Amino acid sequence: MRTTNTYFYRSATIVCVVLAHAFLIRSTRAQPPQCDPSSVLSYESCAKCHGSEVRVWKQTPHFTTFEQLSRDPKSSEICQKLGLRSVKRSAVCINCHFTLQTNGDRNKPISGISCESCHGAAEDWLAVHNDYGAVTETKETESAEHRDERLALSTAYGMRNTRDLYLIASSCYHCHTVPNEELVNLGGHKAGSLDFELVRWSQGQVRHNFLRSDGQFNAASSIQRLRVMYVVGLIADLEFSTRATANATQKSTYGLTVAGRAAETAKRLIKLQKTIPIAEVEGALAAFSKADLRTNNKAQLIAVADAIRQFGQEFAVNADGTTLTLVDSFLPTPDQYK
Ligand code: HEC
Ligand code: HEC
Ligand code: HEC
Ligand code: HEC
Repeated sequence: MRTTNTYFYRSATIVCVVLAHAFLIRSTRAQPPQCDPSSVLSYESCAKCHGSEVRVWKQTPHFTTFEQLSRDPKSSEICQKLGLRSVKRSAVCINCHFTLQTNGDRNKPISGISCESCHGAAEDWLAVHNDYGAVTETKETESAEHRDERLALSTAYGMRNTRDLYLIASSCYHCHTVPNEELVNLGGHKAGSLDFELVRWSQGQVRHNFLRSDGQFNAASSIQRLRVMYVVGLIADLEFSTRATANATQKSTYGLTVAGRAAETAKRLIKLQKTIPIAEVEGALAAFSKADLRTNNKAQLIAVADAIRQFGQEFAVNADGTTLTLVDSFLPTPDQYK
């Protein structure tokens, strides 16, 4: 059954845009973020100050999957095919569907996909992320320099804070691309959420923007932010579906689906690029054009994914949403939010 070097798509053909600038692609070892169980605190340690966020989260499938997953007949079907005894005990399932916390010498599931699954395991950053400085300082009096330092420090301690949209988008795609060949081909699990688009999927039931309204209400993100988020989402999709293709060893459902997703996302980025040229998108597409989307091509595809990541991160840092008005025609409308 195992075939080597089977092509799914020729990405150089997909990326047929003329690439005007030469980009220096710095090498980076950036890997997708993980939620380290030994630094997980649990959502209860957020509740004291973020009660409204917890309340919203409890209405989402991210929370309910903790109880629902083992009751879903599809779970037993997948486990049976993989020779796994139970969902709650199978590392492969609970790494993605649950939040794990180290307890003695084992990792125990403590909830569904929680605050820390998206924002990072909190032990090291919790005390830093809301520290305005001297006890007399408040949100209003904190200096801009202190705020920048605080956010940089919390990121250094593993927080995926929401100022860096690429970081937070990486959390989503890490799970929603399902980069596991055996799980899909043998287990029959979905090969990711194929219609995942960051604006559409983050602005509906998942949204919990109470901070920016000082706790008054769950605020919609501004159009400027949504524009950046849309572009960030597509670049991250390209990165993570290329990364998932790196795990393909056979030309069957898994490889075809994830490589197809990468090719499809590249096409959407090309369309966007034709409407509104963005240097980092061009860089990401140039990197992708070198990818051979085929089986057993791990090293190259990971290097390409790393390069795409670099451009995505640069875009997230540099982007000015006020100038990206031409992105508006691509944005989903609120009635399409998940
Ligand atoms: C003692 C109170 C307190 C606790 C506990 C707390 N937070 Fe916060 N959090 C804050 C405050 C205050 C801010 C606003 C900081 C600011 O003004 O930038 C904040 C901001 C945030 C932000 C937005 C900041 C950004 O730039 O992305 C996130 C995300 C966040 N907290 C997540 C969490 C999570 C997850 C937990 C639990 C693991 C948690 N917080 C626990 C008080 C707290
Ligand atoms: C890489 C992350 C990941 C892993 C590993 C994973 N899942 Fe999932 N699972 C997801 C995502 C994401 C969805 C939602 C897909 C969608 O958009 O509908 C999902 C959906 C499901 C569903 C409901 C959708 C359906 O097909 O009916 C079941 C049941 C399920 N997973 C079972 C399992 C089991 C059992 C395992 C372990 C053998 C497992 N999952 C491992 C990410 C994962
Ligand atoms: C740790 C893995 C993980 C992370 C991180 C994650 N998700 Fe999910 N998500 C899942 C799984 C698994 C499901 C399906 C749960 C179920 O139905 O049992 C899901 C379901 C959803 C749903 C509901 C889909 C539906 O059909 O109703 C939305 C919306 C969603 N995720 C958006 C997001 C967004 C946006 C992000 C990032 C900001 C994100 N997710 C991050 C694993 C994850
Ligand atoms: C599925 C991934 C995911 C989960 C789970 C999640 N968050 Fe978030 N969080 C996000 C994203 C994405 C944003 C930015 C949304 C936006 O800008 O519209 C965000 C924004 C925030 C903010 C800033 C809101 C603002 O007004 O600026 C805070 C605070 C926060 N989250 C805390 C939490 C807490 C506490 C939990 C757990 C109860 C939690 N988050 C669970 C993805 C997640």
